[in-house]
Amino acid sequence: MWIYEKKLQYPAEVEGTDLEIASELFAQYGGPDSELAAGLRYLTQRYTMPTDEAKAVLTDIGTEELAHWEIIGTLIYKLIEGVPPEELQEAGLAAHYAQHGHALYPHDAAGVPFTVSYFQSHEDPIANLHEDMAAEEKARATYEYLINLSNDSGVIDTLSFLREREIVHFQRFGETLEIVRDYLD
Ligand SMILES: [Fe+2]
Repeated sequence: MWIYEKKLQYPAEVEGTDLEIASELFAQYGGPDSELAAGLRYLTQRYTMPTDEAKAVLTDIGTEELAHWEIIGTLIYKLIEGVPPEELQEAGLAAHYAQHGHALYPHDAAGVPFTVSYFQSHEDPIANLHEDMAAEEKARATYEYLINLSNDSGVIDTLSFLREREIVHFQRFGETLEIVRDYLD
């Protein structure tokens, strides 16, 4: 089960509205290497992990990714909140506005809707953990691209926190891979 805490894991502060970075941040809201894909991947794969410790790592990190998904959603909403439709149109968000208004929807930075085919789930824990480590590196790289594209100090600060967490997750999955290998040997 989960217990919801009514606060963000990290404050998603923004200087003001910014449609360009908002549309790019959808990469982490509903793209192939998004927080949503990561969270669903780990929470789906955990059942066939062979040790309780490995199951717990996937549960912990999967849960944290959902908290990161919440942070990204909050950032996007703050960056587009109250912006008139014509400005959304100029920023390339007309299709999003036509279908969702100012609401969020899990699609990538190009507007492609989220699909679970962005991740796999195997019975084999070694295969899964390699996928998970790759997912963390792709998320880290995506955060670096987004930081390069942003001029908002609040957005940069929040994305820097999220980037750091991907590095920690990569390391924890690496340790888990060794534990599972030892167990299987
Ligand atoms: Fe992560």
